[in-house]
Amino acid sequence: MTTIKRLGVLTTGGDCAGLNAAIRAVTIRATRGYGAEVLGILQGTLGLMEDPPRAIPLDGQTNDTALLRAGGTILGSVNRGNPFRFPVEGGGEEDRSALVLRGVERLGLDAIIGIGGDGSMRIMHRLMQVGRFPFVGIPKTIDNDLAATEYAIGHHTAVEVAMEALDRLQPTAASHNRIMVLEVMGRDAGHIALSAGVAGGADVILIPEIPWRVEVVARAILDLRARGRNFALVVVAEAVPSPEGETVLAGPSAAGAMPRLGGVGARIAAALERATGAEARVTVLGHVQRGGSPGTLDRLVASSMGVHAVDLAMSGRFGRIVVWREGRVGDAPVETAAQPARPVDPQGDLVRVARGLGICFGDT
Ligand code: F6P
Repeated sequence: MTTIKRLGVLTTGGDCAGLNAAIRAVTIRATRGYGAEVLGILQGTLGLMEDPPRAIPLDGQTNDTALLRAGGTILGSVNRGNPFRFPVEGGGEEDRSALVLRGVERLGLDAIIGIGGDGSMRIMHRLMQVGRFPFVGIPKTIDNDLAATEYAIGHHTAVEVAMEALDRLQPTAASHNRIMVLEVMGRDAGHIALSAGVAGGADVILIPEIPWRVEVVARAILDLRARGRNFALVVVAEAVPSPEGETVLAGPSAAGAMPRLGGVGARIAAALERATGAEARVTVLGHVQRGGSPGTLDRLVASSMGVHAVDLAMSGRFGRIVVWREGRVGDAPVETAAQPARPVDPQGDLVRVARGLGICFGDT
């Protein structure tokens, strides 16, 4: 018999497709499977800090299949709410972790399921170490760079969006003899660029894990032209350094937030125009990759992870994160989420496949 009567669920970090599907799975499993009550905490740990804490009741009836299809998160999210280093007005930071723990007590939560990225997992693990925070994590990130899991919620849908963008750019590239540069997200890793580039028939893929040079990419494009091709598709991860070796930022970031990457595609398009004499255009996909209805894999993974997370909580197995390995759901100690990000392996299978297809990474 479980002693868990009331369970809280929250989403933290950048949104992505599949968060609502996971919230739905948690709610259905906990209410129908165990007769527990579920509270949805609003705005991640920010909702717990407030007085009174901000939460709404969730139940399996009202949050049924419409939620499976919906983008974003009905609970809201925050990506600069680290309670241990909370940015305060006028500058500086303060430790507000005690307020989060107070929120858990006030809501009478016996378990918390947190859906978030690596930073969020680290924060929730630390909350467990400083007080009563009975936590199970579910990993999400379109970047898919968490070391603990082969797959995180949101990645597949983001790749689908980027691949569809290439499908749409290719006819225009061919009609107008152009180089089309597509800039995709990926703060530290090139997984989206690599998968979308292979699936979408890119000629060039530039990722932060493989150093690149303009001359090499220009030569690959000129070779294509020599073989009779009148266009080129180039996929660029936002974290790739510019031709001058700089990280390109979209603008200043808010206090406590990560740097805002964006704009390297335009620099690369300009450099390729100069080097090849061909007309180059750039498309920056940005948050289009995060919103919208989740694809099949994200619905399956989010549903599996949501059910598994509740089963872990109900058996008192806190301090675990749900993982996806070898095509099935499992779990691992939350400490594994603190491992360094999992980059693309430059010697890995997909890079080898891409090279086998003649795709240029700008290095050779
Ligand atoms: O980590 C997910 C991600 O979408 C990155 O790919 C991107 O660099 C970042 O978040 C953008 O964050 P924000 O929406 O806060 O600008």
